[in-house]
Amino acid sequence: MKGIILAGGAGTRLHPLTKITSKQLLPVYDKPMIYYPLQTLLDAGIKEILIIVAPESAGNFLKLLGSGKEFDARFTYEIQDKPEGLAQAFILGKTFIGDDDVTMILGDNIFVGNETFLLDAITSFTSGARVFAKKVHDPERFGVVEFDSEMNAVSIEEKPENPKSDYAVTGLYIYDNSVVNRSENLAPSARGELEITDLNNIYLEEKILDVRIYDGFWLDTGTFDALLDAGVKVRDYCNEK
Ligand code: DAU
Repeated sequence: MKGIILAGGAGTRLHPLTKITSKQLLPVYDKPMIYYPLQTLLDAGIKEILIIVAPESAGNFLKLLGSGKEFDARFTYEIQDKPEGLAQAFILGKTFIGDDDVTMILGDNIFVGNETFLLDAITSFTSGARVFAKKVHDPERFGVVEFDSEMNAVSIEEKPENPKSDYAVTGLYIYDNSVVNRSENLAPSARGELEITDLNNIYLEEKILDVRIYDGFWLDTGTFDALLDAGVKVRDYCNEK
């Protein structure tokens, strides 16, 4: 299993904080944001990690994270020239992925408090795709899973105006090797991006998407409030431990 951290993007929603630095380098309590998704991959035993960054911040990521030796891992870097969608990661990462399966985590997603669950979900993965849904109070900000009465996933909609459930798809995705080919065949959405939700829906239609409910602590840090909340929650969690 290889790992990808997607840490590009323009971060415009967090201006002026992200005017001269990358969002994933902003502090969350006592660490740069990217340390949290990195730790999630390391906790799951993933040692070969591709870090995808925007050209203007590449030097800073390299300076911060280096070769991976400090983390007992091996890091590779790839530049994403323009933020053309989450699924582009698998095209940029084609050579890195090779013949392996891959777990991708978004560089602004924080998962703490249920490491064993994620370790099990990643190590037990064999084929298809696996994603994690979390109950939230603002599902319209996310990819939203629709479930039938037996909690089988029926569809995923990206940022729907009228969400069909309160379950957001979190930014942690596990795919078999066919993800590279499937991403290469995706058409850009109306906003010009290769959408991860389109990719997940393809696996869903083929009935090979496993949607697991995640009950640990998860935060996407996409807004000022979410960023502030993340720092406070991580501090409280660290103090409790
Ligand atoms: O956080 C989970 C959500 O992430 C999912 O529920 C959504 O289905 C998924 O589309 C995504 O939604 P976001 O609105 O959070 O996506 P955003 O465009 O903010 O990108 C997420 C992160 O990925 C962000 O840190 C920037 C980075 N990124 C984004 C794009 C589009 C890249 O590195 N490259 C890109 O091309």
